Amino acid sequence: MSPAPASARALTVDSLNPKVLALADHFGGAIARRAQRMQEMLEKDPGSYPFNEIIYCNLSNPHSLGQQPNKFFHEVLALCDYPHLLHWSVTNSIFSSDAIARAREILDLIPGRATGGYSHCQGTEGLRNTIAVGIASRDGFPCYAEDIFLTDGAAPPVHMVMQLLIRGEKDGILCPVPSQFLYTSSMVLCGATLVPYYLDESGGWSVSISDLKKHLDAGRSEGITVRGLVVVNPGNPTGQVLVGENQCEIVEFCRSENLVLIADEVYQENVYTDEKKFNSFKKIARSMGYGEGDISLISFHSVSNGYYGECGRRGGYMEVTGFNSEVRKQVYKVASLSACSNISGQILMSLAMNPPMVGDESYTFYQEERGRIILLLSQCAEAMVQTFNSFEGMTCSKAEGAMFVFPSIRLTKKAIAAAEAMNTKPDVFYALRLLESTGIVVLPGSVFGQVPGTWHFRCTILQPEEKVQLFIYRFKAFHEAFMGEFHD
Ligand SMILES: Cc1ncc(COP(=O)(O)O)c(C=O)c1O
Repeated sequence: MSPAPASARALTVDSLNPKVLALADHFGGAIARRAQRMQEMLEKDPGSYPFNEIIYCNLSNPHSLGQQPNKFFHEVLALCDYPHLLHWSVTNSIFSSDAIARAREILDLIPGRATGGYSHCQGTEGLRNTIAVGIASRDGFPCYAEDIFLTDGAAPPVHMVMQLLIRGEKDGILCPVPSQFLYTSSMVLCGATLVPYYLDESGGWSVSISDLKKHLDAGRSEGITVRGLVVVNPGNPTGQVLVGENQCEIVEFCRSENLVLIADEVYQENVYTDEKKFNSFKKIARSMGYGEGDISLISFHSVSNGYYGECGRRGGYMEVTGFNSEVRKQVYKVASLSACSNISGQILMSLAMNPPMVGDESYTFYQEERGRIILLLSQCAEAMVQTFNSFEGMTCSKAEGAMFVFPSIRLTKKAIAAAEAMNTKPDVFYALRLLESTGIVVLPGSVFGQVPGTWHFRCTILQPEEKVQLFIYRFKAFHEAFMGEFHD
């Protein structure tokens, strides 16, 4: 049968949910598609560009860029997924003893000892207990399994929180600019009003409380009911780690303004400076003496991101505190709509929050593996920051955490005019020219938002050691040529 003519189709673009159409098909997508086409060209005809490979600095996907998966985690996962292995004597010579013991413990917690079944919709209770113990030991304050919802990474609970908070377009969320487009996209889909606040670049991308207050008041004066405040720490795309005093100010602000604090802490393991330490907002709030009744706080963590880099496997948690029992029932109701998160992700999250301890067979290797990955990331970040700061017209804050640097470029009038002549934003123009000349893929700052009139790009710090020099060499040559071509 031939397909129905377009006019007769049940769904056309014109009849789609306008909120879907309103989602930005951001320029990051166009650049990634261009890079993909160039990659295909290079495979077909290696001489088609003056370089032989695409260098993907747009992807925050560590395993695809060569980072090896964690050995202990994958041993446990393999054993849980195929428990017959636990009955074979050869297993003792292939798998570490603590991975075997942990797999047995985990299987005992899972109904039917099978990773293919449903779990409780909040996640397997025993795994949530383990995670709660891990959070309590990280923070030094109690954590309860009933406050934990195990999730398929951090993105699904972000959407869920938006659904819970947003009643209509008169409801808004204070969201950092620049920030990961997950939040802004989720708000568009829920029909929320974005109430932006600008991170302070000159203050190392800290949160300025006066700026927060200014934007909150502006939102309210336009009739917006601001329901919550999103904070991403360590930051994407900005790579900052907030200092404790700044976090205290944020907690105080949310409390006094009656806002739900939405703390995205997916990069908590990725900190590269001895001067700063990751502190969860829960720990900060409790250290200030604020308990359940004082502040409503939702925190996210993920193994599908950050240091763990299990991006395709999907595992995370949302910790929900400071809501009354009626609200909690509603959170539970919404969570139960997706039955449960995948069990491998639940297991991974429990392992991340309860890794091998001193005395366990895997402990030393686990620590070495972690140390090596963090060292490589911090070395890559340092080399990039130094390079960008040496470029004419570019400044780059230190990468203290997460997986990104976000340099600012002062583009010349001539470059801006050239971009406008092509109907392109200046930062997109720069990123496209970079891609065409060097094969390096970065995401323009306009994907994340930036102070109007400033231009940035986000570059991941995930390049393997042997590629960093090549990256610097190609980037430097491009930038010098670009600045030469567009000199005012
Ligand atoms: C700050 C931040 N939060 C949440 C997410 C979504 O994470 P996940 O892959 O765990 O869903 C991302 C993804 O890049 C992110 O950067």
